[in-house]
Amino acid sequence: MTATKFPLAFTTTPSQRARDDAEREAILADPGFGKHFTDHMVQITWDIEHGWHDAEVVPYGPIPMDPAASVLHYAQEIFEGLKAYRHADGSVWTFRPERNALRLQRSAQRLNLPELSTEDFVESIRQLVAVDAAWVPSAPETSLYLRPFMYASESFLGVRSAQKVDYRVIASPAGAYFHGGIKPVSIWLSTDYTRAGRGGMGAAKTGGNYAASLLPQAEAYEHGCQQVLFLDSVEGKYIEELGGMNLFLVRHDGALITPSTSGTILEGITRDSIIQLARDHGHAVEERPVTIDEWREGVASGEITEVFACGTAAVITPVAVLKTPDFEIGDASAPAGALTMSLREELTDIQYGRRPDHHDWMTRLV
Ligand code: PLP
Ligand code: COI
Repeated sequence: MTATKFPLAFTTTPSQRARDDAEREAILADPGFGKHFTDHMVQITWDIEHGWHDAEVVPYGPIPMDPAASVLHYAQEIFEGLKAYRHADGSVWTFRPERNALRLQRSAQRLNLPELSTEDFVESIRQLVAVDAAWVPSAPETSLYLRPFMYASESFLGVRSAQKVDYRVIASPAGAYFHGGIKPVSIWLSTDYTRAGRGGMGAAKTGGNYAASLLPQAEAYEHGCQQVLFLDSVEGKYIEELGGMNLFLVRHDGALITPSTSGTILEGITRDSIIQLARDHGHAVEERPVTIDEWREGVASGEITEVFACGTAAVITPVAVLKTPDFEIGDASAPAGALTMSLREELTDIQYGRRPDHHDWMTRLV
């Protein structure tokens, strides 16, 4: 075993069962989202005595796990999501990975897991994408979705923070997150359930937040909606975020309005980037509490002209209608808004290397 040295040195064990070119190309022709995985994965181990050690790229495969591993009982787990993009010259890039590293560190603090340095995080991505570079698709709007995650692997049923932790990165070729590409989506307002409370884990990217969203998400599907919207847990009137995306409203004067990050929502990297791009173009951006009534009345009066969701998986997705048990806001057949689509085009142009990267957001991987 190699004890923690900074930065970590990775070893690579090539897979003996890597898919051949024809099998891989068949998958890349229609990747969907989160269904197929590349030939390798990263693993790094941590224990209380040695810190982070044994950084490896190994063949993708099942994780042997003791039934008493504490993640299976107490859900001490965090994850990230980012993408690798193929540019026209064949090179492969990722978007603001140091932001994901910092967010993983903040999630680690909240879940009392060990922090992985930004340098080791970015290197773990680079190592995996270097080995599985052929899995980065090149068709328009496709990418390789990267999923770093960390979990308590110690076999111990006492309730305390684990003294043995594993970090892994897996990768999955990705097309559009929603069926039907970038068509406007419908969202469902959860009135019975909230996602996060004050002092809770809402700002952490931890599995428990997603587990809590699954029942209301199922309700959303029953009502013909693709995502669920949560309100604040205290007053039940402020909009927070969707199950897996942040939300923006666009005012008729071109201003963007988005709920502030006050500890109960995920601080989205796409959200932050949209705020920057909008400000670059002279749009006002208001990060503040937004009530469901402001949205409803704003759409009725013509004050609110567009609504969109954003995140790594969703990029920027127009929202056509919000359905609630009592009323609807918007119209399911509404077309995508003009500002929504121009922000989407600008963001994806930067990510795919089609326009200059003025903010130094892109990191070359291969
Ligand atoms: N909110 C939630 C709950 C998410 O899962 C995500 C996706 O990661 C986001 C917001 C958007 O975050 P980002 O733009 O960093 O992907
Ligand atoms: C992402 O956009 O990366 C997400 O995590 C959303 C969802 C796939 C969980």
